[in-house]
Amino acid sequence: MTDGFASARERAAFIAGLPKAELHLHIEGSLEPELMFELARRNGIAIPFASVAEVRAAYAFSNLQDFLDIYYQGMGVLQTEQDFHDLTAAYLARANADAVRHVEIFFDPQGHTERGVAFATAIGGITRALDDARTRDGISSRLIMCFLRHLSEAAADATLDEALPFLDRIDGVGLDSSEVGHPPSKFERVFARARALGLKVVAHAGEEGPPAYVHEALDLLKVDRIDHGNRSLEDAALVARLVSEGMTLTVCPLSNLKLCVVDDAAAHPLKAMLDAGLRATVNSDDPSYFGGYVNANYLAVADALDLSKADLVTLARNSFTGSFLSDGDKAKHLAAIDAYL
Ligand code: ADE
Ligand code: ZN
Repeated sequence: MTDGFASARERAAFIAGLPKAELHLHIEGSLEPELMFELARRNGIAIPFASVAEVRAAYAFSNLQDFLDIYYQGMGVLQTEQDFHDLTAAYLARANADAVRHVEIFFDPQGHTERGVAFATAIGGITRALDDARTRDGISSRLIMCFLRHLSEAAADATLDEALPFLDRIDGVGLDSSEVGHPPSKFERVFARARALGLKVVAHAGEEGPPAYVHEALDLLKVDRIDHGNRSLEDAALVARLVSEGMTLTVCPLSNLKLCVVDDAAAHPLKAMLDAGLRATVNSDDPSYFGGYVNANYLAVADALDLSKADLVTLARNSFTGSFLSDGDKAKHLAAIDAYL
């Protein structure tokens, strides 16, 4: 079985120790039900679930919007700087256990400021945990602030204004939330402004939306990376362009399964992406809601698509090559993969 491995167990062990970066992780989507209950108690907030099991049972989604409704509700327990710290620290402990050496984390400031939690509270707690992980575990990080695309461009612009005092701690902007009906073109001006401020830019595109949205993200937002990008495969000219530009796609297999973007793991396009020469990476998106952290995502596609050792190494290499690290740091991580082999 399995090109390069004697058994599925050996492949799992290889994935477990393989140095990797995670480039598509919504920190609010790493809120485990146990921590949700603890924060609800700590902050005196009522949540509509009686038990952890009841929360998990509610995580059955038939599309992106189903998930988003429960995701925005869940983040309501995040109130204080310590809450954001504890959330981020819990994710980083999981990442460290999965041999993640570098993380590029999304957060949704509008999901917090809209309900009266200050921008400074959210970013303060998140960055304190990121700093601790760098010192304690040697995990480097970048922070990407996402605009909620179901809200207006004016609201995104106001959020960028709020971010100005914190630009030393923000590396990029992204675009997430309900995709269909909210094309990248809606945010062309605010993304131009972010780029002019020296920020990196990424956007979710082609998760549920059509290939035209991926074209818009490239042409109008001038993105450095495409988040998901699955539906690019419907457009051969787009695939050729993504390959020739060396564009990174941050693919999220378990998310795609839970949100019914793909019908079953064996039908996941990741292997087709690699075979087409696309720079695909594997990520966990919202691991608490989708059933697994980054290694679980690698394992799910490795098993279902019978990925070879070479495929897995390509994915790990892509995760560093596609990151916002310096060339010197990328080279260091690529050498660590070589040493692992
Ligand atoms: N926000 C959190 N997770 C998301 C996803 N997978 N797609 C769009 N918006 C999101
Ligand atoms: Zn996402």
